[in-house]
Amino acid sequence: MAPRKIIIDTDPGQDDALAILLALASPELDVLGITCIAGNVPLPLTIRNAQLVCELAGRPDMKIFAGCERPMVRDLVTAEIVHGETGLDGPAWDEPTMGVQEMHAVDWLVTELMSAEDGEITLCPVGPITNVAMAMVREPRIIPKIGEIVTMGGGFFVGGNTTPVAEFNVYVDPHAADVMYRSGIPIVTMPLDVTHEALMSPEWIESMRAIGGDIGEKTAAMLSFYGRYDIARYGTRGGPLHDPATIAYLLQPELYGGKDVFVEVETHSELTMGMTVVDYWDRFEKEPNCRWISEVDSDGFFELIRERLANLAAAL
Ligand code: RIB
Ligand code: CA
Repeated sequence: MAPRKIIIDTDPGQDDALAILLALASPELDVLGITCIAGNVPLPLTIRNAQLVCELAGRPDMKIFAGCERPMVRDLVTAEIVHGETGLDGPAWDEPTMGVQEMHAVDWLVTELMSAEDGEITLCPVGPITNVAMAMVREPRIIPKIGEIVTMGGGFFVGGNTTPVAEFNVYVDPHAADVMYRSGIPIVTMPLDVTHEALMSPEWIESMRAIGGDIGEKTAAMLSFYGRYDIARYGTRGGPLHDPATIAYLLQPELYGGKDVFVEVETHSELTMGMTVVDYWDRFEKEPNCRWISEVDSDGFFELIRERLANLAAAL
């Protein structure tokens, strides 16, 4: 079976880094390119971090594109408190040497999708949705070209991680998320409802270090740094590994359980700005616009990541 063609739209971030590494370690996936967005840290740093992660994966050939440096309407909000000043704190990194593409990420998304067959490409946005939404607005004819969107964002039963009701990616650009949920494209959402069900353990992080080499050392250092915030903030035993859930779903969907629901994003009230309002019990009797994932085989998820990154390290 031919590898599934995907595009990762990302704001690295240590959890984004693990999503990128998992995708590049998995032959079932053909990563056509990585589009960077401002989010966890400003755009120049998310670009640099994407370069570092691709070089760590032995993929200096990967096409990396610079996208939007701010949300569609609102001002940029970043998350250095979680990811550190560079967005990839933890390991000692050398500066990247691989190139970044000249074309703007939004223009490349339009060009790449317009040259594809209908339904041929899967989008995996794991940061604010600005690039994807801007591409849809710029060229609506790309919409049938997108077979599925598998995105990390939102939260409902567990509330938010940026305000009491809003998750970071959707809070940063609620208007972009609204464009996505209104697009009619098949969407699978990995919200906090499921990512908070898969918390890293110190033992698992050590099993990542045991992979050895640069991948083992840098992955363990990233995750140890990144996990400290949630442990301190929520008193949990480990931090949630949000973004790799999208890639794990593509590789082993049987790890996950969810429900087709109607979701709408709050874009008016400052109190609830960026809230993903999930009509879980079909009160509005509207056509579902996404599969809302809330269950995960946590052990299977973490073993998948460990196994694939061990394979990648062995191949370098
Ligand atoms: O709320 C978690 C999400 O926000 C993750 O994608 C993380 O990387 C940050 O972008
Ligand atoms: Ca992210």
